[in-house]
Amino acid sequence: MSSQIDHLLNEDRRFAPSAAFAATAVGDADLYARADSDRERFWADQARELLHWHTPFTSVLDWTNPPFAEWFADGELNVAYNCLDRHVEAGNGDRIALLWEGEPGDERRVTYAELTDEVKRVANVLTGLGVGQGDRVAIYLPMIPEAIAAMLAVARVGAIHSVVFGGFSADSLRARIDDAGAKLVITADGGYRKGKVSALKPAVDAALADRNGSGPQETVEHVLVVRRGGNDVEWTEGRDLWWHDVVPAAAAEHEAQAFPAETPLFILYTSGTTGKPKGILHTSGGYLTQAGFTNKVVHDIHPETDVYWCTADIGWITGHTYVTYGPLANGATQVLYEGTPDTPHPGRWWEIVEKYGVTVLYTAPTAIRSFMKIGRTVPQSFDLSSLRLLGSVGEPINPEAWMWYREIIGSDRTPIVDTWWQTETGAIMISALPGVTETKPGSAQVPIPGIAVDVVDEAGEHVGNGNGGLLVITEPWPSMLRGIWGDPDRFVETYWDKFADRGFYFAGDGARLDEDGDVWLLGRVDDVMNVSGHRLSTAEIESALVAHEATAEAAVVGASDETTGQAVVAFVILKQSFLDAHPAEGLATTLRRWVSEQIGPIARPRDIYIVGELPKTRSGKIMRRLLRDVAEGREVGDTTTLADTMVMSTIQAKITT
Ligand code: WT7
Repeated sequence: MSSQIDHLLNEDRRFAPSAAFAATAVGDADLYARADSDRERFWADQARELLHWHTPFTSVLDWTNPPFAEWFADGELNVAYNCLDRHVEAGNGDRIALLWEGEPGDERRVTYAELTDEVKRVANVLTGLGVGQGDRVAIYLPMIPEAIAAMLAVARVGAIHSVVFGGFSADSLRARIDDAGAKLVITADGGYRKGKVSALKPAVDAALADRNGSGPQETVEHVLVVRRGGNDVEWTEGRDLWWHDVVPAAAAEHEAQAFPAETPLFILYTSGTTGKPKGILHTSGGYLTQAGFTNKVVHDIHPETDVYWCTADIGWITGHTYVTYGPLANGATQVLYEGTPDTPHPGRWWEIVEKYGVTVLYTAPTAIRSFMKIGRTVPQSFDLSSLRLLGSVGEPINPEAWMWYREIIGSDRTPIVDTWWQTETGAIMISALPGVTETKPGSAQVPIPGIAVDVVDEAGEHVGNGNGGLLVITEPWPSMLRGIWGDPDRFVETYWDKFADRGFYFAGDGARLDEDGDVWLLGRVDDVMNVSGHRLSTAEIESALVAHEATAEAAVVGASDETTGQAVVAFVILKQSFLDAHPAEGLATTLRRWVSEQIGPIARPRDIYIVGELPKTRSGKIMRRLLRDVAEGREVGDTTTLADTMVMSTIQAKITT
């Protein structure tokens, strides 16, 4: 990490905004001035300009009971109406909302009128199934138009969705269904991944099976299944329904009811520092305001002309805010792609950019680095001249990847916005504004208008330019999480207790302020890893490892990785009783597969080292810092606080042999 920081600090390339871009940019420097003069008024203006309110709000922010914020609380709106009907009513029903591309190459173009019609029918189906305000619906779908329609239909009836990434295992799905107490699961038979159908329905069946006895009480009444993969599925009569049977048969009339602005919109689970994922709760009016605003000014969306593409899956917050809610609230046209970047060939993404004339591309550094590895000739064999703006999200982007992105993908011409935010923040918080900010490769730079952040020391004191510390958010913001589902104490402890006396939100990221006061993100400061822009908890993987009969103890660290940013590296102590009865050969492979089955393929450790001992302090705490040194092939740091100072040399001897 330290060499990486030194490297970042020597980065002095600067890219001034081009006059041509600035001439048509949605954002301008005046936004900062307006927000600085009156932050609440600024957000109220955005909420009124960007959204339709069935009942206008008079109260902007209620912060009388921190950290429980309420934004626009006496206003009423319907989120789906804002993303759909009003565009149709404004005469834009024929505008394409989704340019969908399936992995096998099939395509569908869905207009705003068509998507509105579909969402109305699905809303009627939901009502018919008894799903209404406040009910929870789990969504476990591939990247198909029905996924967007499902989210919006749930929002339309005032229910709460919990989208679970299709790459998560049956166990992970079950834990999320149970925690939220979902009444309905919306899934598909399967979706296309890497050239073949990857089944989804069996994981739902497994998640809902064998629940009599120890597990929590069954809350799921129905499973609504989209046919996509065409694979055979098991069917539970009375519980399972085909989407194609019930949705087209439902009425196309559905009037959107207005709900109070603080109506919960969704729960999205993310990894924390303990084994149990946190259900991050977002609500309606404030979330949609900041989603729409940031998509508009950071992605510079001109809905009449742009073809926008955010490559994130809807299973992550980026897919929620910058596939479903932000762009649709703005009436934009976007590409939705089902598959993997390299199927059936390594130029698939660039082929899509060329085919649809994508103008704004928003993706993750890990993807950029894997394209760098393949080489520039692949993207250079496609016409990428439609691109005019590039965005990055999910992890720090190293200056090399930033430069490659600009030069090779952006023809050395497009601005790049490096956007820092989190599942918890709901929307972009720190980013350059294209056409306004002079950019610096590797730095997320400045809070967006209306957002206040700082870098502070352990005591909460501003560190001053040129220094590093902890990133905090110092003022409440519209799209902030409203809590952790079912666990208000954990919400307060995780984010607010650390700087309770100052009322700062603790983000969990290290950061540095440069001489201009710009923010450079330095990675997590807690036991959370970032693998390919996805958040994973060391504790969660450790508990999966020790759940295997062979494992006595496990320690997991995030080691830096050229492509994925960080990679999961596990150190495992095996049970003697297991070794007495089983061969040790192949166990590392078995355990890697095990973790993948328990949590999902994204959590599969890159390396598993079988060791005899783990480095612990005298109080028994595992010193992950030392394991990280080993995993990254560095000289091991200070071991004086270890209970047994010999442990590290034993581990290292084991690994190098
Ligand atoms: C964590 C949040 C934001 C949506 C995708 C990830 C890291 C995110 C950046 C960036 C440096 C970044 C942080 C943050 N992160 N964007 N532009 N530069 N780091 O959402 O899974 O909630 O993870 O991702 O460490 O805390 P998430």
